[in-house]
Amino acid sequence: MITINENYLKLQASYLFSDIAKRVASFQENNPDKDVIKLGIGDVTKGLTPASIKAFHEAVDEMAEDTTFRGYGPEQGYDFLREAIAVNDFQSRGAQIAADEIFVSDGAKCDSGNIQEIFSQDIKIAIPDPVYPVYLDTNVMAGRTGLFEEGRYEGLVYLNSTKDNNFVPALPSEKVDLIYLCFPNNPTGSTISKEELKTWVDYAKKNKALILFDAAYEAFIQDESLPKSIFEIEGAREVAIEFRSFSKSAGFTGTRCAYTVVPKECVAYDKDGNTHSLHALWNRRHCTKFNGVSYPVQKAAAAIYTAEGKAQTKALIDYYMKNADAVCKTMDELGYSYVGGKNSPYIWVDGKIDSWEFFDMLLNKAGVVCTPGAGFGKCGNGYIRISAFNSHEKVAEAMERLKAALR
Ligand code: MLT
Repeated sequence: MITINENYLKLQASYLFSDIAKRVASFQENNPDKDVIKLGIGDVTKGLTPASIKAFHEAVDEMAEDTTFRGYGPEQGYDFLREAIAVNDFQSRGAQIAADEIFVSDGAKCDSGNIQEIFSQDIKIAIPDPVYPVYLDTNVMAGRTGLFEEGRYEGLVYLNSTKDNNFVPALPSEKVDLIYLCFPNNPTGSTISKEELKTWVDYAKKNKALILFDAAYEAFIQDESLPKSIFEIEGAREVAIEFRSFSKSAGFTGTRCAYTVVPKECVAYDKDGNTHSLHALWNRRHCTKFNGVSYPVQKAAAAIYTAEGKAQTKALIDYYMKNADAVCKTMDELGYSYVGGKNSPYIWVDGKIDSWEFFDMLLNKAGVVCTPGAGFGKCGNGYIRISAFNSHEKVAEAMERLKAALR
């Protein structure tokens, strides 16, 4: 008899963004004339940059000729991309990351979900609340939690991110082994200073713990004093793994390209206390389960590091940040308090009522889709997340509708 992984039965009925998509589809079916504006899932709307598109086309042409055709590439990514990443994203900011510490992949969602496979079952995990649901769900699937009771899984240490701590959680009061952090934060849009991040690195070193640092939104940082990478913090090479993505920074949500940085010093322990290289373990996992991102996509990603590519991706970020500004201004005008929107494409608004009620009200009264904060955890209840990913025109229209609905 074929039996199931019963851990899946502990999961909430469906993945947050699938749930929202279903509700929106049903609303559209019942209101075919309503023009719905989507500021929910963080999906980009602008085309790829001309630099990426040119490189993409050229690489496709190379694939058409026997002499320049490429078959399987290196699982970890082509050197031309890994080197461009190491130099531009890390070394230029004083973070000593080498090209061979970078693993190119098809998404930070997949990497941040898959990484838990290389750790043991009985580790103590600290997870922020609210949180990007992938970190949580993948550990539930793997059997590292108990049941879902009163809005939380048993067996996890939740790190509350609330107004009281400016949405930057405090260090856990009990000893943990694995810590998930995401800054600029999804969903709250909050940021962390170098000094605050250093306390986490020190904690990890002291407790032989590991930090999984999701920096998928670093490109939106406007304040130069903020860290873009955990590897800008002294000592982080021994205790952190970082996830990055081209999805939001260069419009690759549909094209798929991301990377994970695993420094060579980073270790974990076996039951006898012997150290093992996480770089070697992740490499083993990556080579076994992944066959590399396609050559044209890696060429398109590498093009963002050229002079034109850099200018064009900056323009993309500036475009979305102008939307974030428009959302912040509207919230100021309406008297709603919020965080984010300054160094992040997300604005986390205190809606003062149940999140799903607020979501339904906005959809029904304004035809605007947001993401209910409760979908990201217990501490998210009462909040909604508004995304800056849409055209200027649609965001302006959505803000007018919000003003009419919320005044
Ligand atoms: C989000 O809206 O939180 C993100 O787009 C989801 C993702 O990147 O997978």
